[in-house]
Amino acid sequence: MNPKVEKALNEQMHAEFFSFYLYLSVAAYFTALHLDGFAHWMRIQAQEELAHAMKLFDYINERGGMVELMALEAPQREWPSPSAAIEAVLEHEKFITGKINELASLAFSENDFTTFNFLQWFIEEQDYQEAICPGEEPDCHRFTNDTEDALVYFDGNVPTMFLRLRHQPPWYWTPCAWTRSW
Ligand SMILES: [Fe+2]
Repeated sequence: MNPKVEKALNEQMHAEFFSFYLYLSVAAYFTALHLDGFAHWMRIQAQEELAHAMKLFDYINERGGMVELMALEAPQREWPSPSAAIEAVLEHEKFITGKINELASLAFSENDFTTFNFLQWFIEEQDYQEAICPGEEPDCHRFTNDTEDALVYFDGNVPTMFLRLRHQPPWYWTPCAWTRSW
């Protein structure tokens, strides 16, 4: 495997594992605030990030590369407000989109078209990940002042906030594997 591409794939896998950790931290923050709808949403997002990391893990192995698991830094634990936490998630997704694009660009310039092709799934996935973030939802801005009534309203309506989207979030009907309630 091209060493530059292998290194970049390992770095991307690390970023996906960190996303998993960060979103678990956001889930814990929402749970502590008794915002169970948002907490559920973040648990599902964390689950998806773990799947992204494992997709890269498997790909590196399948191509004969060497997986390198790096230390995970501790994620942020608290945010100034629930909307600030959601904005942070959206910003993180945009950061990840940038990294995926850089990785695809590297694979192309190194003539590793198999990896370039593999990354198309991630490019599509990032479009979806940004779209399902409530920070992208116009209605979401109605709770940016974090009034209690608006928060309670949105917390109870997280699954229906995305019905207008092109891609229906799969977790609309799928409970998180790690949670017993919604
Ligand atoms: Fe991801």
